Amino acid sequence: MSTNLKINSQRLWSTLMETAAFGATAKGGIRRLALSDEDKMVRDWFKSAAEAAGLTVSVDAIGNMFATRPGTEPDLPAVAFGSHLDTQPAGGKFDGILGVLAGLEAIRTLDDAGYQTRHPLTLVNWTNEEGARFAPAMMCSGVYAGELDGAAMLAGVDRDGASFAGELERIGYRGGETVGARRFAAFVELHIEQGPLLEAAQETIGVVAGGQGLLWFDGEITGRDSHAGTTPMPMRRDAMNALAAVSLAIEDIAKAHGPAGVGTLGEAHIIPGSRNTIPGAATFKAEFRHPDGDALTTMETELLARCRTIAETRNVTIDVRRIWRKDPIVFDPAVVDAVEAAAKANGLPYRRMISGAGHDAFYVASTCPTGMIFVPCWEGISHNEEESATETDCSAGAQVLLDTVVKLAG
Ligand code: GLV
Ligand code: MN
Ligand code: MN
Repeated sequence: MSTNLKINSQRLWSTLMETAAFGATAKGGIRRLALSDEDKMVRDWFKSAAEAAGLTVSVDAIGNMFATRPGTEPDLPAVAFGSHLDTQPAGGKFDGILGVLAGLEAIRTLDDAGYQTRHPLTLVNWTNEEGARFAPAMMCSGVYAGELDGAAMLAGVDRDGASFAGELERIGYRGGETVGARRFAAFVELHIEQGPLLEAAQETIGVVAGGQGLLWFDGEITGRDSHAGTTPMPMRRDAMNALAAVSLAIEDIAKAHGPAGVGTLGEAHIIPGSRNTIPGAATFKAEFRHPDGDALTTMETELLARCRTIAETRNVTIDVRRIWRKDPIVFDPAVVDAVEAAAKANGLPYRRMISGAGHDAFYVASTCPTGMIFVPCWEGISHNEEESATETDCSAGAQVLLDTVVKLAG
C-alpha cells in the first residue's frame, strides 16, 4: 500500500548531514564509537529532536533510547522502528544512522499531515550496534531480547580498560527503564545494504527476508621473544608468523565454504612490537559468517583444527576462544510482505534478499514480528569513511519505512 503521506527528502538529507558533524573525520566519514563523547553528542541531538517532535523519550538501563508518539488506542503495543547511531572507528555517514533519522522523518511527515495511527509508534536508537569498542555487535538489542547477559555486557571493558557501565554512566545514558520491559507489536529497520547487489541490479529496495549467522573469536598466540639478528630461523617461536598463518587459514576455510561463507581477521596486536625482536606474542579478533548455522559450526571446528596444526609446526601455543555466536535468522513473513507491498505500491524496483551484515533487527526478531528494508550504497562499500548513498535512495527507503509502519500500526 502507498499512502498519500510523502517523506520530505530534503529534510531527511539535511538531518543526515547535520548529525554527521558529530565525530566527523577528515575523509568525510564518522568516528563515533559507542559511549564516546561523540556518541553522547548525537544522543543529545536525537533526544532534543525527538522531544521537539512531541515524542516521549525513555532510556533503559543499558542506554537504548525509545521515543514514542501516542496512538489513538493507547493500550495497544507500539509499532517500533529505528537502528543505531554509533559507528565503526572509521565509519560512514549512513550505517545505522539512516534507519534512525528516516524514522524521525517518518514521524515528522505524520505530524505535518496530522495523521494518527491506532498503535503508538516508537523510534529506537539501540546502543552499541557496531561492537567495535565493546564486543559483541548488536549488543544492546541482544540484551533487550534476553539473548545476551546485561550484567556481563556492563562489565565489559574496551582496550584501554574503560568499562561499559562506567562509560554509559559518564555520558549520562544509564537510564531507569528495565531492559526488555517494553515489547512491541512489530519492528522495522531501514539500513543501507552494505553490499553491492542492489546497486549492480539498479534496484532501489531490498526486501530483507532474513540474515546470515555470525561467529566471533578472540585469540592469543604465545611464542618466545628473541633477538632478530642472532636467532637461527629453525629455532624461532615467532608469534607474528603464526598469526599470519591463522589469518590465511581463516581465508582458506571461508573460501572452502564459499561463496556464502566469509571469514575475516580484522584486528591484531603484535607483542612487544619492535623491528629487531622476534614477536613472542600476538592477540587477534576474527569472525566467520554464513547463512547456514551448520556450516558455521563446521567452520569453527576447522579453525580449531588448523590452529592446532599451526601451533605444532611453529612451536607456539594458540588459544582461540569463541566469544559470540548469533544464528542465522528468518524475518516474519507478514512484515516482509508488508515491506514488499510498500516497495511495489511506490513503483520502486526491488528484490528479496538475505542480509550479509548483522543488525539489531536480528535480535528484536525473537521478541516481535520483524523485518528490514535495504537501500543501495555506492559500490556496496560500508565500514568505510567513503560510504555513501544518494538522497533519492535514502528518501525512497524512508518512504517504504513510513508506508510499512502505517500499515502495521493501522
Ligand atoms: C555490524 O556492523 C556487522 O558487523 O555486521
Ligand atoms: Mn549498521
Ligand atoms: Mn556497521
